[in-house]
Amino acid sequence: MIYLTRRERFNAAHRMYREDWDDRRNMDFYGKCSNPNWHGHNYELFVTVKGEPDPETGILINLKEVSTIIRERITVKLDHKNINLEVPFMKGKIASTENLVRAIWKELDPDFSALGIHLHAVKIKESENNFIEYFGE
Ligand code: NI
Repeated sequence: MIYLTRRERFNAAHRMYREDWDDRRNMDFYGKCSNPNWHGHNYELFVTVKGEPDPETGILINLKEVSTIIRERITVKLDHKNINLEVPFMKGKIASTENLVRAIWKELDPDFSALGIHLHAVKIKESENNFIEYFGE
């Protein structure tokens, strides 16, 4: 089994908060990530697909194709956007990286499935020291 990972980057703003909590409770729980005037991250997104390479071509999937799917489905909708306000697949969700990684999986899965490719992992690096990974379950 071959695992192939493509990295794409995007910059986006968000705020961690629950609408049913007041600002103080949100700040106490989420810390500075709950700043009411938003804050940004330089996110790195890693999408890993898996499968057997085609014996005829020697490749699993064209990397350009992977990049195009991720850009069209995900990064165009996130880059330079406010995750809380502007990203259709995050509507109604808390703008956490945990929720983001799941939502991205859900967006990407049909496109890769249609190509007969299995998604293996979606990973987001939110900051130098923090990664969140999702393996579809
Ligand atoms: Ni943040």
